[in-house]
Amino acid sequence: MMRIPIIAGNWKMHKTVTEAVDFVNQVKDQLPPADQLQTALAAPTLCLVPMVQAAAGSPLKLMAENCYCKDAGAYTGETSPYALYQAGIHHVLLGHSERRKYFHEDDDLINQKVGAALRNGLCPIVCCDDTMARRIAADDQIHWAVNRILADLKGLSTEDICKVTVAYEPSWAIGSGQSADPNQAEEGCYLIRQTISDMYGEDVANNVRVLYGGSVTPENTGAMMAQADIDGVLVGTDSLDSRTFLEIVNH
Ligand code: G3P
Repeated sequence: MMRIPIIAGNWKMHKTVTEAVDFVNQVKDQLPPADQLQTALAAPTLCLVPMVQAAAGSPLKLMAENCYCKDAGAYTGETSPYALYQAGIHHVLLGHSERRKYFHEDDDLINQKVGAALRNGLCPIVCCDDTMARRIAADDQIHWAVNRILADLKGLSTEDICKVTVAYEPSWAIGSGQSADPNQAEEGCYLIRQTISDMYGEDVANNVRVLYGGSVTPENTGAMMAQADIDGVLVGTDSLDSRTFLEIVNH
């Protein structure tokens, strides 16, 4: 089965609603058909509905950057996965390194969020990080990535795992200008796919998309995406400018 590659931006807490809609209008007619290369933007919650409206009829998909682990209820300040789906948002980033670091999200909460997202029709992009310390102690880095995936995806059915995308984002490469080299990035993505293969078998693992993220630029996108186990990139800083984002898409 062919895995359709994905180029996804993650805007984090950048952009106003007006800036977000302008961006969509600048790129939406210049994107490739979704059966060749899928394009997506993860944007702040406030921007999502107007972006969905602006992107109507284009291949651009909009993604939430987070959601809560309950469908709805008395959880002040949280975002309901049910409400996201009803608003036309069908993808959500979960377990980003910044959520783990600044908001103390652990694997158990992320696993619950993955379940809530899937229960409500959202396809999760589950982020798996590792640190420089673990990179230097190479064995530990490997165990770390495997443990993250085992814990974050625990209990998913085969049908559900096929709706999940995994993003390997070493924390030392995020926002640092120092991306992993393509071989290191491939090593992390290969390991994630092998872990999924151990959990669900090779056929299933060959259908799950694995992305690399961390200081992706127009210059390094091609080399990343040429790796056997890298099915696309998750781009922070260089997704904020529409021309640079299009350069990455057209790498
Ligand atoms: O999710 C993408 C992100 O964490 C990477 O950010 O700025 O290094 O591309 P950046």
